[in-house]
Amino acid sequence: MTDPAYFERMYARSDDPWGFDDHFYERRKRELTVAALPRARFVSALELGSSTGALTEQLLARVDRIHCVELHPRGVEIARRRLVADSDRVRFEVADLITWTPGETYDLVVASEVLYYLDAEPLARALGWIRDQHLAGATVVAVDWRHPVDEHRWSGDEIHRRLTEVLSTASGGYRDTDVTIEIFEPAGVESVAVRDGLAPSATDGPSGE
Ligand SMILES: C[S@@+](CC[C@H](N)C(=O)[O-])C[C@H]1O[C@@H](n2cnc3c(N)ncnc32)[C@H](O)[C@@H]1O
Repeated sequence: MTDPAYFERMYARSDDPWGFDDHFYERRKRELTVAALPRARFVSALELGSSTGALTEQLLARVDRIHCVELHPRGVEIARRRLVADSDRVRFEVADLITWTPGETYDLVVASEVLYYLDAEPLARALGWIRDQHLAGATVVAVDWRHPVDEHRWSGDEIHRRLTEVLSTASGGYRDTDVTIEIFEPAGVESVAVRDGLAPSATDGPSGE
């Protein structure tokens, strides 16, 4: 795992350690992530490494309830303040993904810029339960920085390669030089346009039949 002292230093330095509120890059990344969600509403979401709640705040526009799991208590404290108006819809948990396991199922799992901090064994364990959530019907959204960072155990692209291995090919996403965003829909789920009645289903016969 990335040395916990790294996160201590980051949260000691600032209430916005990665500049989520200041950088245009970060705002745009969150807008792209939320725009790519393939459903108008989700009932129950899980957000991993939720930090100061900047992404949580935007996800709340599209989800009824969200469970935030974050390693650092300071991140949770800042997020609680940010989201005080929605406190009845957000559950915060200070926990380490090295050992944490979900006790319920969600219809959305969001892992934004967090899986690359995990060593091989905890990463494999997390990918295992993410796969179980996906098989039970969760849409999985992964977002990762693509430039090298000393504290990251894996590149963003390697995380997405592993997700593809356990979840199968992403159904959509966005990628540029800086960031990759991928959406993994559960097997058999039709596209947004098909579900919206704008395009024929793959299971429909030829038109006119
Ligand atoms: C770079 S921030 C990403 C924040 C947010 N997900 C986003 O994309 O805007 C990474 C966050 O993951 C948390 N984190 C890192 N390792 C973790 C672990 N093993 N368990 C839980 N949270 C972790 C850090 O404390 C930090 O708040």
